[in-house]
Amino acid sequence: MAPWSKSSWQNFEALQQPKWADEAEYQEAIGSISKLPPLVFAGEIRNLKKDLALASEGKAFLLQGGDCSEDFHNCTAPVIRESLKVILQMAIVLSYAGGKPVIKVGRMAGQYAKPRSADLETIDGVSHPSYRGDMVNSPDFTAEARRPDAGRMLQGYHLSAATMNILRAFTRGGYASVQRVHSWNQEFVKSSPMGRHYDRLAKSIDQALNFMKVVGIDTDIPQLNQAIFYTSHEALLLGYEEALTRQDSITGGWYDCSAHMVWIGDRTRQLDGAHVEFLSGVLNPIGMKVGPKHDLDTICRLLDKLNPENEAGRITLITRFGESIDKHLPGLIRRIKQEGYKVVWSCDPMHGNTYTAETGYKTRNFNDILQEIQCFFEMHWAEGSVPGGVHFEMTGQNVTECTGGGRNIVAQNLTENYLTNCDPRLNAEQSLELAFQISEMIRR
Ligand code: PEP
Ligand code: CO
Repeated sequence: MAPWSKSSWQNFEALQQPKWADEAEYQEAIGSISKLPPLVFAGEIRNLKKDLALASEGKAFLLQGGDCSEDFHNCTAPVIRESLKVILQMAIVLSYAGGKPVIKVGRMAGQYAKPRSADLETIDGVSHPSYRGDMVNSPDFTAEARRPDAGRMLQGYHLSAATMNILRAFTRGGYASVQRVHSWNQEFVKSSPMGRHYDRLAKSIDQALNFMKVVGIDTDIPQLNQAIFYTSHEALLLGYEEALTRQDSITGGWYDCSAHMVWIGDRTRQLDGAHVEFLSGVLNPIGMKVGPKHDLDTICRLLDKLNPENEAGRITLITRFGESIDKHLPGLIRRIKQEGYKVVWSCDPMHGNTYTAETGYKTRNFNDILQEIQCFFEMHWAEGSVPGGVHFEMTGQNVTECTGGGRNIVAQNLTENYLTNCDPRLNAEQSLELAFQISEMIRR
């Protein structure tokens, strides 16, 4: 077989690619992106891989979250800040309760392309190409809006760069200090309907921080005033990913510099497919979604291909089973253990729990999400393996897209602030509640 190169994927079948309207326009956009600077650096990617290696051994915990699909219009400082804020808040709760560092990875700064179940969407007898993410087309239901437009990839690159820049500023410039994030959590505990329930944990964190001050530990240090925040998205548009794949000048290795971590979706992880070929050669940490329709032998062959050296931190298996978790997860854990594969196990409790409410809105229920997470932890503990992380679709905006939670959003409330172009997200309050609930499960 021909050796890997950043373009060798082109010899394989690539599923879920848009039918770009104009080939010359496509080549021009890809050509421009390939000359633009990388969005992240190889050294940062290596650091994340080291952190994830710790998560695979239970010495760190992965928190990955953000929009199902980022929206070009929402590339604004307030929207980015509010999502970052919630992830930081969740991370403090989880790191305190779990007694280990939390690796923070946003579905941010590039999560602009989506796989879809059908190529066409039909409303009242009219069909247009499906919306495939802002980097491809626009959600409005008109022929013009749905036309795949390669210029959007270039725009997506620039908006990813702007997002990355503000994330770096927020996390390095004092905004992410532990003290400040904790004070937001205290506000949440005061204002949330379930607040009293979370009061005890918030108080112990407060005592721990005070204790450091009282005994004279210098709190003016980067570990307490800055956060390390990584980015990730689904590596779906392979032309775009190839254009941002660069050779590291220090090691000579190839890195996909569009994000620190990239993942491969449940729909595009064919063993002989273009996505697997592409990802097999870049050195980033790779996430792999695993849904109910998987086959154990194929998962093993995929791991052999994507991680032939069985390097810890390279692969995160993101399971998304929904209520069939008890049918699928124990067998998968046993097989991976038996074969000795090193992976980070992460739970995506979102994609197996989507349903359409009686009002016609696509939604997810808070309790179903919590239930899948609970099963995930218990099954790993029962099998003697390590539950290493969680993966959420969430936002800092006050949306009404998922039902349940402390304010008990019901189907009728979904219309109030339903903003997602794709899957329903947890809002800020629901996300924090989940973190507090998980903290009860993992509290040492
Ligand atoms: C997603 O993470 O938004 C997604 C499409 O997931 P999956 O590949 O698991 O369906
Ligand atoms: Co989604």
